[in-house]
Parts: sequence; C-alpha cells; structure tokens
Amino acid sequence: MISFQSVTKSFGDTKILDDISFSIQEGTRVSIIGPGGSGKTTVLKILLGLMPPDSGEVHLMEVDMVRSNDRVKEEVLCRVGMAFQQGGLFDFMTVKENLAFAMEHMTDMSVDLIDKKAKSVLEGVKLPATETMFPFELSGGMKRRVGIARALATEPKVAIFDEPTSGLDPVTSTIILNMILDMVKTNTNLTQLVATSNVEIAIRFADRLIVLNDTGSIVADGPWRELLLTGPEWVRHFLSVRLIGLDLEYAHELDLPKEFIEKHWG
Ligand SMILES: Nc1ncnc2c1ncn2[C@@H]1O[C@H](COP(=O)(O)OP(=O)(O)OP(=O)(O)O)[C@@H](O)[C@H]1O
Ligand SMILES: [Mg+2]
Repeated sequence: MISFQSVTKSFGDTKILDDISFSIQEGTRVSIIGPGGSGKTTVLKILLGLMPPDSGEVHLMEVDMVRSNDRVKEEVLCRVGMAFQQGGLFDFMTVKENLAFAMEHMTDMSVDLIDKKAKSVLEGVKLPATETMFPFELSGGMKRRVGIARALATEPKVAIFDEPTSGLDPVTSTIILNMILDMVKTNTNLTQLVATSNVEIAIRFADRLIVLNDTGSIVADGPWRELLLTGPEWVRHFLSVRLIGLDLEYAHELDLPKEFIEKHWG
C-alpha cells in the first residue's frame, strides 16, 4: 500500500530524512514515532505527493508519488483520509459543510448518502450536535475529532492521522484515540498510519512502530514490545523513559512486557 525506498530530504543544509526505507501492507496499522522535529510530518507530505523528496522512490497504492502528474496524484488522494496536525478545517464552512465538501470532491456518493455519512461519522466521534457549528465555536479537541470524522467520511483505503492528540490533555487524548480505534475496527482492509511523538499513543494504536531519530534515520521498525526489550539502546531509552512513569495498573493494562514491568516496578 505504501512504500518508501531510500528517501532523502533536506531543508537548506539540514538533512531531515536520510535514506529512509519502509513499506506497509494493506490492512495493517503502523505508528511512525520520533521526537518533535524528527521529520514525521515531512514523511507524510512526501507520501501524499505534497512535497518532493530530494531523491528516492515513493509509492502509494502502486502510484509513483514523485513522478506522477497532479491529476494522477489527486486521484490517489481521493482514496486517502488524512487528519492534519493542525485540524485543517475550513473556517468559513460549518462542520457539516466541511464533511460534505470532502465527500463531494473525493467520492461519488449521492447527496442522500453524504448526509447520512456526515451524521454517522459525527456520531462516531461523539459530536452529533455540531453539524451547524463553525470551527471557531469548537474546542481544540472537538476540532481534532471533526478532522478525524472528515478523514473517515470518504471511506478511504488508507487513513492517516498526524499527531491526533498533540496539545490535548491526557484524558481527551485517550478519548480521541479510542474513537479512532473504534471507528476503524469494522474495516479490516483499511491501512492506517499514525504519526506521533507520544509513545503511549503510538503503542496503543499499533503493534508496529517505525522509529525516526533526530538525525533523519529510521532507527527501528518492528513490534514495540520487542523494541522495548531488545531494540537499539537509543530506541529502548526513548520508549522507556516515557513509560516508566506510568502507574503499575496502567502498565498492565497496556500489556507492557513482563520483564519490563519487573525491572521498573519491581
Ligand atoms: N517547508 C519547510 N521548510 C524548511 N524547514 C522545514 C519545512 N518543513 C519542515 N521543516 C523542518 O524539518 C524538520 C522536521 O519537521 P517535521 O514537521 O517533519 O517534524 P515532525 O517530526 O513532524 O515534528 P512534530 O513532532 O513537531 O510534529 C523540522 O526541523 C522543521 O523545522
Ligand atoms: Mg509533525
């Protein structure tokens, strides 16, 4: 569904992505994780053909996202649901209009279906009463939820969430993550990607982590429980410093490896 081969990208003299390669199979779920500024959003922009890499190959649903013309890229993007880090809603449209606009432009759904779908995705993110509201009337967390609803309203093949919870309190973050997991669980063919710097969100979202470091490399790619125990030192440290502060009950709930719990909680 998604493939990066030896992708490199610099801004000025700074190499942000240094020869990165990975691929993601259809129907799987992956978290891209790394510290702030490590290049997660840049990976997504390159994947969507919104920004060219300096070198390397990028394929999304078998389409070459580097060399294809805009028309071909746009066709692919109609099958992608993307929830942006900054929300990305149109301020001058109501919530319902934001959703309908996406469905009108990206799908061939009928007016009736668009109406039904808008209602059902808003129920999915527990915001049924916001249809006629404008984005400025919503809290930060609500805007994120509308963004998620819009990403899924178009019934995409690939769903991408960039920092779905950054800047939100832990309770709201958990609620939002649960909503995403709940809304996608019936669609086993959907390929799902979250980019985040939040370890807890990343491991709750997916078994597989692709870990970026701040010099632009993929330092690990694999099941997080394995990385936590036997990954490269930098990765073990990056993951564990954020987990050892959790309370023991929650550590069990996350199903952290037994060895890890014994070592840190005794
Ligand atoms: N268009 C651009 N022009 C110049 N520099 C850029 C541009 N886009 C990103 N950068 C730089 O590239 C680096 C990676 O940015 P990116 O947004 O991909 O990181 P990120 O991992 O998504 O960070 P965050 O966790 O804060 O969202 C940053 O140092 C950023 O300043
Ligand atoms: Mg980002």
